[in-house]
Amino acid sequence: MVAIATDRLTKVFSDGTVAVDEVTIEAASGEFLVLLGPTGCGKSTILRLVAGLEEETSGHVLIDGQVVDRLSAKDRRVAMVFQDYALYPHLTVAQNIGFPLRAGHHAPDAEARVTEVAEHLGVTDLLHRLPGHLSGGQRQRVAMARAIVRKPQAFLLDEPLSNLDAGLRADLRTDVAALARRLGVTTLYVTHDQTEAMTMADRVAVLRRGVLQQIGPPAEVYGDPATLFVAAFIGTPRTNLLQGAIYMEAERTVIDLGSQLLELPHTEALASHHNDRVTVAMRADALRPVPDESARGPVLRGEVRLVENLGHEALVHLDTGIMPTPIEESRLEHPDTGQHLADVIAEDPPAGHPFRQALSRMMPHARPEAQPATARTEYGFYPVYDAELSDQPPLGDVVVRVPAPVLPRRGESMTVQVDLDKLMLFDRGGHRIRLA
Ligand SMILES: Nc1ncnc2c1ncn2[C@@H]1O[C@H](COP(=O)(O)OP(=O)(O)O)[C@@H](O)[C@H]1O
Ligand SMILES: [Mg+2]
Repeated sequence: MVAIATDRLTKVFSDGTVAVDEVTIEAASGEFLVLLGPTGCGKSTILRLVAGLEEETSGHVLIDGQVVDRLSAKDRRVAMVFQDYALYPHLTVAQNIGFPLRAGHHAPDAEARVTEVAEHLGVTDLLHRLPGHLSGGQRQRVAMARAIVRKPQAFLLDEPLSNLDAGLRADLRTDVAALARRLGVTTLYVTHDQTEAMTMADRVAVLRRGVLQQIGPPAEVYGDPATLFVAAFIGTPRTNLLQGAIYMEAERTVIDLGSQLLELPHTEALASHHNDRVTVAMRADALRPVPDESARGPVLRGEVRLVENLGHEALVHLDTGIMPTPIEESRLEHPDTGQHLADVIAEDPPAGHPFRQALSRMMPHARPEAQPATARTEYGFYPVYDAELSDQPPLGDVVVRVPAPVLPRRGESMTVQVDLDKLMLFDRGGHRIRLA
C-alpha cells in the first residue's frame, strides 16, 4: 500500500472562496486517517483534490511519495465513495460491483473478483438483487465493494455513513474501519461526526475553515487540544468554556472567573500571561462533585439548574455565575444539519412548513444592549456578556457528570472539585497556554 500526502495544498474557487488553505497532512501506508470538521471546512475539497477531481490552486498531492498533480483521476488509482453512493438502479448488485471492471482491461477475471469482494463485504447473498430492494446499510456495503473491486491504492471515503440512521451508523463504522484495516488500504475518511472520528481513526486531522488545526491520535486531540476550536469541537457533552483572567502573585497563581476564583500552584509558565483574559476549558470529566466540607484544592460552587438523566449517569448543569466564552471566540461553526442551507431553501418549502416558520423567527431584530458585567471577586475581573446569546447572565453554564443513582435536585447547591491536570487555558487568539 502507499502513503497519501498533501503538501501546503490550497484551493481557492473562482468566486474567491478559500476552501483549503495550505494543508499539509500525511497518511502513512495502511493508515486510517480521519478528516474531521464542521460543514464547509474543506473536507470534501481535500478528498476531491487527492482524487484528482479538482485542480489545486497551489501545493501538491503526493501518492507513494510521488507528486501526482499532473496525473488524471483515473491514473491515480484511488477509490472514492461519496455520501450519496449512487448505485445504478437497473443493474444488479453483482453488475454494480463489477461495473468499474468493464471499462478497463480487467474483464477476464471479473466474475471471480466480484465474488471475492462480495464475500469481503458480506453481500454474497444479495448479488442478484437490484439496489431498490436493499436496505441503506446493504447499499452502503455494495458501494464499498464497487470501490475496492479494482484494488485501489487508497480509499477516499466522504461521509459514507451520514445518510444512515444512528443505529446502523454505529454498526457500520466498526465494519468499515475493520474492512479498511483487513485490506490494509490507506484510507482518508471524511466526517463531521466526532464519534466516528474518535472510534475509527488511527489519527484525526481537525480542520476549521480550510485550515488544519491539529493532527494526532484520537486520544491526543481529545486530551491535549492545541486550539480552543479543537477543545470545543471534540467532546460530549460540549466542553465547558469559561471566561477568566490570570493573576500572578508571589506565592500563587489565580484564575479569576468573575464570580469565583480558582487557585493554581504557582507556575512560571503563566508569568507572561499576568493580567491576560483567557478561556478556561474544562470537560465534564475534569469536574467531580464533592461534599462541600471535604473539598480540597480548587473548587467551583454552583446551584443545580438542570439535571439530564441519561440512566447510568446524569449531566448536571450548574449555575455558577461564571460567563461562558462568547461563540465568536470559541469559533464554533454552526451545527451540521447534513444539508446545505442553500439546498434547503432551494426546495422552496411551502408557507406553514416548519422551516419557513423557523426562518421567519430568524428575521433580524433590534438586539438588546448587553448588561454591564459586574465583578464580585477581589481581583475585579469583568467578564464580557455575549449579546448574541442573550441580555441576561446565562444560567446552567457549567456541565458536570454525576453517576447514578444519587442525583442532585434542581435548586440544590453543589461543589465540584477541579482536576487541574485536565484544566486547559487558551489565549484570546484561541491558542493553548500550557501550564507546564
Ligand atoms: N465548486 C465550488 N465553488 C465555490 N465554492 C465551493 C465549491 N465547492 C465547495 N465550495 C466551498 O468551499 C468550502 C469547502 O467546501 P467543502 O470542501 O465541500 O466542505 P466540507 O466537505 O467540509 O463540508 C465551502 O465554503 C464551500 O461552500
Ligand atoms: Mg463535504
